[in-house]
Amino acid sequence: MSNSVDKMIALAKETLPNSHSPYSNFPVACVIKTRSGKMFRGVNMENSAYPHGICAEGAALTAMVTSGEREIEEVLILASKEFKCYPCGGCRQKLSEFSTAETKIYSSNDVQGLVDSKTMGELLPCSFSSETMKEK
Ligand code: THU
Repeated sequence: MSNSVDKMIALAKETLPNSHSPYSNFPVACVIKTRSGKMFRGVNMENSAYPHGICAEGAALTAMVTSGEREIEEVLILASKEFKCYPCGGCRQKLSEFSTAETKIYSSNDVQGLVDSKTMGELLPCSFSSETMKEK
């Protein structure tokens, strides 16, 4: 576990109340730390027209890219409930665009704190990437 994790959990806990999740009642916060050491936050943002909601990971990624950052070092997901929450399939693909197979993904929740960690390679094996398109 890196020594940034406590700081990432604190930041995610501070951000979690901003989640707009009245339909699922499943608030999620995400903190992305980039190689430059900066941290970017996101929360899930649902919509009365359900398909238009976005995940916390997508929100954090958008904040990161908007700031001109591209290289993810580690990601922390914080759920409000006692649950081991990892990114959904679509978010794994989005995160992998800016990660390596070794990028750490931490799962935490508001009840237990840090509960688990995996690498991007474990969460999304045999992934499709820009490298795939260069292969003959
Ligand atoms: N959600 C996230 O924001 N991140 C995850 O890793 C899993 C699910 C959100 C989407 C939706 O707003 C709610 O959690 C229930 O699926």
